[in-house]
Amino acid sequence: MRSRLQSVQRALRMNSKSMKTQVLDAKSNPQAGTQLGGRIIRDGGLVVFPTETVYGLGANGLSEEAVLRIFEVKGRPQDNPLILHVCRKSDVRELWDTVPGKAQLLMDVFWPGPLTLVHRKTDLVPDIVTAGLFTVALRMPKNKTARALIKAAGVPVAAPSANISGRPSPTTAQHVVEDLGGKIPLILDGGPCEVGIESTVLLLGSPPVLLRPGAVTKEMLEAVIGQIELHKSLLKPLCETTQAASPGMKYTHYAPKAKVIVVKGSPKRMAGRVLELYAMFGASGKTCVILCSSQSEPFFKGKEYAILGNRDEPQTLNANLFSALREYGEKADVLLCEGISAEGAGLAFMNRLLRAAGYLCLDADK
Ligand code: TXA
Ligand code: MG
Repeated sequence: MRSRLQSVQRALRMNSKSMKTQVLDAKSNPQAGTQLGGRIIRDGGLVVFPTETVYGLGANGLSEEAVLRIFEVKGRPQDNPLILHVCRKSDVRELWDTVPGKAQLLMDVFWPGPLTLVHRKTDLVPDIVTAGLFTVALRMPKNKTARALIKAAGVPVAAPSANISGRPSPTTAQHVVEDLGGKIPLILDGGPCEVGIESTVLLLGSPPVLLRPGAVTKEMLEAVIGQIELHKSLLKPLCETTQAASPGMKYTHYAPKAKVIVVKGSPKRMAGRVLELYAMFGASGKTCVILCSSQSEPFFKGKEYAILGNRDEPQTLNANLFSALREYGEKADVLLCEGISAEGAGLAFMNRLLRAAGYLCLDADK
């Protein structure tokens, strides 16, 4: 098996830029795109598809060779496991060794939707999917194109976010073209993803542990299954001594080209510190863009800024964060970003923003 995989690896390296990428509008002609995509996946190929969170790079999750292609095309380290996407709740029965009561409750409330659940796998799941872990992450997306594609493929679809490893996750088909154009045969274009950040990841156990915050918040989960723990590294770097419960925690994420600095604190002080930094970088010839909430806009009039959303509804910030990091992260030398309270959907916002900033965060109140 190893030598067959090695020859697939070699062939992929040789062909890695030579493919024509077809972009199909999944909204106006859903049937054609998902049928073609389903065939490609059944034949061992890769298809990019929209989900409500971010675009996914999908392959047959039961085929070792097909999954290997995902790692190759993304440039993803093979010790970072993938999520398997299903189109029916009952599909979990052949992928998990048991279905815990708490999992059933969460699936009843949040599936289909932006919640990924991690539990012990069966032998059907290849080790390459889970990077050798005994657990597998499963998710049933809400997006109709995603579910139609999984149904047409007839297998669980392994899919990480459809970006080159280390880049912000893609929330439009255009982002995918920028990263993976010429490397994959098909992108199903479903328009912009409404959630805009990746799914919540919860490790089932006693107690369950939140490994990645998302649109399904800690509070929403606790209302259904009682207390859960937050993994220690959600808002600070994983230190050498803490084990990565989720291998993805180890890797730099969402890193745009520009330097990213987060400034938090009471609104006036935060804005004051941002303006000081703006002037300081400007004086040394660096271009800055401020990423802020609509509430802070009045402070930044006359400067280069972009509004991400309303800070009292952090999901509106989440929806625009990755596209702003891509767009302004290319244009500017420095992105000065308003930090918010890490409550509710604000936890997911601060988790992604701090990772983009390499945890460089100033508290203007101190
Ligand atoms: O919204 C999403 O979840 C998107 C869409 C395409 O569904 N997918 C996505 O996949 O974000 P990816 O591969 O970029 O992130 C999956 C995360 C990684 O941080 C990985 O380490 C973690 O889930 N993960 C996967 N399997 C795991 C497991 N068995 N135990 C712990 N963490 C796991
Ligand atoms: Mg990713």
